[in-house]
Amino acid sequence: MKRHASLVPLSHNHHHGLVFARRLRLAIENGWEPLPSLRDKFRRVWEAELEPHFQAEETVLAPAMEAADPETAGPLLKRLAEEHATLREQRDRVLREPSPDQLRAELLDFSRRLTAHIRFEERELFEAAQRIVPPEGLEALAEALEKAAPPPQPCPIELPPGASEPTEEPF
Ligand SMILES: [Fe+2]
Repeated sequence: MKRHASLVPLSHNHHHGLVFARRLRLAIENGWEPLPSLRDKFRRVWEAELEPHFQAEETVLAPAMEAADPETAGPLLKRLAEEHATLREQRDRVLREPSPDQLRAELLDFSRRLTAHIRFEERELFEAAQRIVPPEGLEALAEALEKAAPPPQPCPIELPPGASEPTEEPF
């Protein structure tokens, strides 16, 4: 289903999230950057994009879905909350100065989990939102989401010379 204009700012964030997750994995697997530097970039992306994005979904989108159709929204919003909680716990472990082996494992696992979470939201959560929230309800979210969704930033993990970005998979 084509993304409703009101949800486009969140989908832009998702696109950036997928790029960040993929570059993080490639940077670790190919040794592009030392782990402490990747952890600093993780912290920056978390603070500038991921946390404000999670909050926009939790405070603007979730209540609108709940109000429109609690039965359909319930299990999807439960999964949304659980996955956000898991990712936040993982952020705490990454920033708690783990050993290099633990940091490597946590960041790789974070990359995998963030990718799966974004695909769930695009394929299931947002599709359901567009089915259950009536068009005028979606329109009404536009301004709040425009304000709450963080502006996309360039990915701080740069591709090394000669490396090419893998073809983008669709959501
Ligand atoms: Fe999201």
